[in-house]
Amino acid sequence: VSLKSYNTFGIEVKARYFVAVANEAELQAVFADPLAKTQKLLVMGGGSNMLFTHDFDGLVVKMDIQGISHEIAGDTVSVSAGGGVVWNDLVNYCVSHGFAGLENLSLIPGTVGASPIQNIGAYGVELKDVFAWCNAFEIATGQIKTFSYADCAFSYRDSVFKNALKGQYIITQVGFNLSQTAQLHTHYGAINAELEKRNIVDPSIADVSAVVSHIRVSKLPDPKTIGNAGSFFKNPVIEPEQFEGLVQKFPEVVHYPVAAGKIKLAAGWLIEQCGFKGMVVGRTGTWKNQALVLVNHGGASGQEVYNFSEQIIQTVQAKFGVVLEREVNIL
Ligand code: EPU
Repeated sequence: VSLKSYNTFGIEVKARYFVAVANEAELQAVFADPLAKTQKLLVMGGGSNMLFTHDFDGLVVKMDIQGISHEIAGDTVSVSAGGGVVWNDLVNYCVSHGFAGLENLSLIPGTVGASPIQNIGAYGVELKDVFAWCNAFEIATGQIKTFSYADCAFSYRDSVFKNALKGQYIITQVGFNLSQTAQLHTHYGAINAELEKRNIVDPSIADVSAVVSHIRVSKLPDPKTIGNAGSFFKNPVIEPEQFEGLVQKFPEVVHYPVAAGKIKLAAGWLIEQCGFKGMVVGRTGTWKNQALVLVNHGGASGQEVYNFSEQIIQTVQAKFGVVLEREVNIL
């Protein structure tokens, strides 16, 4: 089975076996089949955060559990969505109902089921800020378990599902705590600037969603036409001591304070300073408007993209002494 249309990088690779599941019972049936126990396993949502470097010799399970529902209790809105729901469809559902909380996360590619795994985030909001609970299928037992906020151990682009419980659970349903009174997060510079440009002083949820969508479209390539997986690397977080040395050599280094005195650097800036922004190397390269995004200009192999990412890591390390970590999963 070709996986080209199932990964947003548009890499042409094949899977030995492929099955799409539309509900929890189908998921249980797949894993009750002895074949599943003998195969390497790959669970996929929107395929928007992975880079295939070779064919997958195993079973790909594509999560296709649909459905969105909500319950209103006073100001609080509890929204629940199936793991296979397209993330931005959920955002649009909430924005159109006037439920606040997801608007800054507009237009993030991928599915609801993948969103807690790496605690997706954008423009000053992370999934953890609205997450209530999730249900997940335990592969070893076939049971569905409910995870609370605390169970998930969220941090920047990270959760328990990438660490202690890696590969053990498949997220089937996610619950969100939203609100009927908007508490908008517009402090992120680009949002403010765009609102001002539009002469909007008292923005609605829909205004913020529209502005975030506009910023994303102008900065990030559309995977339908140019294969990519969003930010390819994480923004590195460094110790204050290392930052002191760095800022002396590079006073203009783009940075943000984070918890425990640490400093987060803008990986896009580091990469741009090394001359990579908009560079085309064979059939891959970085995006002209966002150096943190690696692209497939058409027909690139995963290995080609991977090799280019290796070159970026080495060049950034040589210039800044900072080691970039990939955000995209390499397969
Ligand atoms: N910058 C450059 N050159 C570039 C890109 C960025 O100098 O080519 C500098 C600029 O100073 C800019 C700053 O970096 O102001 C931050 O750039 P941007 O606002 O585009 O955000 P980012 O830090 O590069 C992160 C997330 C994105 C998310 C945006 C907006 C990570 C790894 N990436 O990118 O998430 O959309 O913030 O909140 O944290 C993703 O994870 O796939 C993703 C797209």
